[in-house]
Amino acid sequence: MFNKLVSFLVLFVTALPGIAQPREAIDFNGGWSFTLEDDLQFRHADFSAVNWKTVSLPHDWSIGFDFGEQYPAGNAGGALPGGVGWYRKTFPLAEKDKGSHYTLHFGGVYRYAEVWINGKYLGKNINGYLSFEHDLTPYLRYGNEQNVVAVRVDNSLQPNSRWYTGSGIYRDVRLEKRSPIHLLRAETFITTPEVSADKSTLRVQTVLNQAVSGKAGKLQLKLQDKNKKLIAEQTLAFSGSQFEEEISLGTVALWSPERPTLYDLNISLLDNNGKIIDELNYQVGFRYFHFDEQKGFSLNGKPLKLRGVCLHHDLGALGAVFNKSAAKRQLLIMKNMGVNAIRTAHNPPSEEFLDLCDELGFLVQNEAYDMWAKRKNKFDYHLDFKEHHIDDLVRFVKRDRNHPSVFMWSIGNEIREQFDSTGIAFTKNMTEVVKKLDPTRPVTAALTETNYEKNFIAQAQALDVLGFNYKYFDYDRLPTEFKGVPLIASETTSALQTRGVYDSVHDTIQLWPASSQDKFVTNGNSDFTVSAYDNVAAYWGTSHERAWLEVKKRDFLGGIFVWTGFDYLGEPVPYPYPARSSYYGIVDLAGLPKDVYYMYQSEWTDTEVLHLLPHWNWKEGESVDVWCYYNNADEVELFLNGRSLGKRSKTDDQLHAAWNVLFEAGELKAVKIKDGKAVQEVVKKTAGKPVDVIVDTEHDRYAVDGLTDLHFLTVSLVDEHGTIVPDSDMELSFIPQENVTVIGTDNGYQADLSSLSTPKRNTYKGLAVGIIKKQEINNVGKILIKTNIIEKEVIIK
Ligand code: GAL
Repeated sequence: MFNKLVSFLVLFVTALPGIAQPREAIDFNGGWSFTLEDDLQFRHADFSAVNWKTVSLPHDWSIGFDFGEQYPAGNAGGALPGGVGWYRKTFPLAEKDKGSHYTLHFGGVYRYAEVWINGKYLGKNINGYLSFEHDLTPYLRYGNEQNVVAVRVDNSLQPNSRWYTGSGIYRDVRLEKRSPIHLLRAETFITTPEVSADKSTLRVQTVLNQAVSGKAGKLQLKLQDKNKKLIAEQTLAFSGSQFEEEISLGTVALWSPERPTLYDLNISLLDNNGKIIDELNYQVGFRYFHFDEQKGFSLNGKPLKLRGVCLHHDLGALGAVFNKSAAKRQLLIMKNMGVNAIRTAHNPPSEEFLDLCDELGFLVQNEAYDMWAKRKNKFDYHLDFKEHHIDDLVRFVKRDRNHPSVFMWSIGNEIREQFDSTGIAFTKNMTEVVKKLDPTRPVTAALTETNYEKNFIAQAQALDVLGFNYKYFDYDRLPTEFKGVPLIASETTSALQTRGVYDSVHDTIQLWPASSQDKFVTNGNSDFTVSAYDNVAAYWGTSHERAWLEVKKRDFLGGIFVWTGFDYLGEPVPYPYPARSSYYGIVDLAGLPKDVYYMYQSEWTDTEVLHLLPHWNWKEGESVDVWCYYNNADEVELFLNGRSLGKRSKTDDQLHAAWNVLFEAGELKAVKIKDGKAVQEVVKKTAGKPVDVIVDTEHDRYAVDGLTDLHFLTVSLVDEHGTIVPDSDMELSFIPQENVTVIGTDNGYQADLSSLSTPKRNTYKGLAVGIIKKQEINNVGKILIKTNIIEKEVIIK
C-alpha cells in the first residue's frame, strides 16, 4: 500500500515552490477558556464562551478538587473526579500567512479528545498518553476573522485506570506553521548504524509530504556539537519524496548516563536558491549496547547494571500536568541517588520528558500498554485495544524512536494475555510492528508468570529480552526456563513507606496486605501510615534491600527497575480511603526523599553517604531501632550523648548498620570509620518547640528554561537551634506578596485530603513543599510563609 502511494505521488511531482517559510512552532498554551459543562453547542465557532474560566495549558481539572470517597475512580484512581470538560481558544492569523500549512499538535489529552476548528470536526483521539495532530489548513480564516478551536475531553467513564490519570489537555499544545511542502517528522528516522571509538556513521531517513521532480529537492544535513562546532555537513539533490543518506564521521563522543553527550542535527529542505523551505532539528547521541543472557547489559562495550526505577506520569501536586522544571527536578533527584534507567510505567511519557532523559542521561524503557484486549478496569483501554492498538503503537514508536535515551520498547506490563493463548499472536504481531519501524532496539514485556509452559507471551518467542516482575525467589530458574534469552528484573520491591514514620522493626519483613486473601492490611496503623524503616512490603514484593541484593548478585540480570522512584497519585496499597496516593516511592509525592533513598545512594554512587535514622524525639527509656546507611567505610560507631554504643557494619545480607537504643534526649551521633580513622559524622538532636522555618528555594538546582519554571520551596519547621521538629506539625500558609502565584502545596502524607492546589498545608514530620510560579520571569518574587506563630518572607530569584 505504502509503495503504491509513493509511486502515485511520484507521478504528480511538483517543483519546489518559491515561498520559503521555515517551520515555526507557535506556543499555543495560553488563553484558553474552559468549562466542566457539556453541550455540543460549544463546538460552534460563533458560540460565546465569555463566562467560562480562563486557563493556561497544560491543564488537569481533576487535581484542583479536594480528595473524596465518592468518585468512581476510587482511591486506586486517586480519589478525584473525572468528567467531561470543554476547552476553546480564539486566535487570529495574518493575511500574509495564507498559503502556509498549519497543524495543531497535542502532546497528550486524557481522554477521548474531539477537536473542531471553526466548527469543522477534525476527529477523535483515543489513547490518552500519545501525541496527536490535526491539519487545520483547509479550514482557517485570515485577516480580521478569528479562528476558534474547540476541544471536548471525555474522562467520564470510570474507573479506567489502576492509577491517577488526570483529566484534560495535560501536556503542551503547539501550532506548527510550515511551508506547503515540508518534511514529515513522524517519518523521519535517525540511526547510528556504526558506533566505535574512531569511526561512526549517522543515517538520516526522511520523507516529504509531496514528491519533487528531477533532482529539484535539496536536503542539507548539518551536525554540530553543543559548542556549535560543525562536525559534518552534507547537501544533496534528490527527487521524489523519500530521502536517505549516511554521513561518515570520525571520532565522536559517546552518549551514556555518566556523560550524555549530544549533538545537534539540523535537516533542512532548501529551494533552488539555497533558501530554507523547511527544517527539523534533533538531538543525536551515539551509543551502542548489548544484552547478553549470561553477562547482562553492556553500554558502549562496558558492563553496566541497569539501576532503574519505574515512574508514573503524574508530578505530585501538579497532577498530570506536564511541566519541564518539575520533571527535571524529579529526574535530578533520581540521578543524585544513582539511577541510570527509567521505566515509563505503564504508558508513553511526554515528548519533553524524553528530551530531558536525553539531556540528563537516563536509559529509558519506553512502555506502551498496561492492558491489551483483556481488561484490568471496566472502562480502560481494553475497550479500544482491538481497533486502535496497532495504530497507536505505530504512532508511539515513530514519535520516540529518535531519542538516544530510549533503548527498549515494552509492549506491555503484566498483561493478562500471558495466561491465555491469544497472547501469542498479539505478542508476535506487535513485536513485528515495532521492529519494522525500529530494528535498532530490543522489544520486551514485563511478565509475572515465570513458568514457560504457562506463559503465552514468552511462548511467542518474539521478545528480545524478557522482563520479570517480582518473584525474586524464582530468579535462578529463569535462565534454564527461558534458555538463551536475556533477562531483566523489570519490576521489583513494592515496599511501602511514609516519610518520617518509624515503627519498631520486626524480625521479618511485614507483608501488608498479607496475602491475596486480603484487599487491605488488617493490622495497619490507624493514621494510614507505614513505617519508613525498610521493613514493610506488599505481599507480592519485598524490602528495597532484599530486592536489590537479589538482583545485584546475579550477573545474568541486566538490571533492576524498582517500583517506584517517586510516590504517585492513586494505588494506595495497603489502605482503603482516605489513603489516596501510593506508598511505594523511594521519594515521597512532594519530592522529599524517604530514608531508603540513601541506601540506594550508598550502593549506586560514589557520593559519601552517612545517613542516620530515625529522628531523635522519643519517650525517655523507649527502645528505638537506629539504622545507618553508609558507604566507602569499614564500620560506623554510634554515640549517645557522648557515650559509645558500639561499632557496627553492613553484612552481605544487610545494607545498613543497626543498633537498638534506649532513648535518652540529647544527641545521637554516627561516625564513619575507614582504616581505623573517623572520616565523616552525622548528628541527630532531640528537637524542642518549633520557633522558625528554614526555606530551601531549590530553584538554583532545578530551574529549566526561564519560561515554565516552577520554584519548589522546601519548608522545614525548626526549633531554636535549627533542628527539624518531627512531632509538632503546623499549618503553613503560602501568601503571595509580589509577582508570584502558588501552584500547589504538599507534604508527602498519603492520607492528607485537602486539595493539592491549595496554598495552605500542614507540615508533615516537620516538612512541607510549596510550588510557586513567578508571574514576571525577569523580576524577583516574594512570598510570605506563615504559621500562627511564625512569619517568614522569602525572595524568589
Ligand atoms: C505491579 C504492577 C504495578 C503496580 C505494582 C504495585 O504488579 O505492575 O503497576 O501495580 O504492582 O505493587
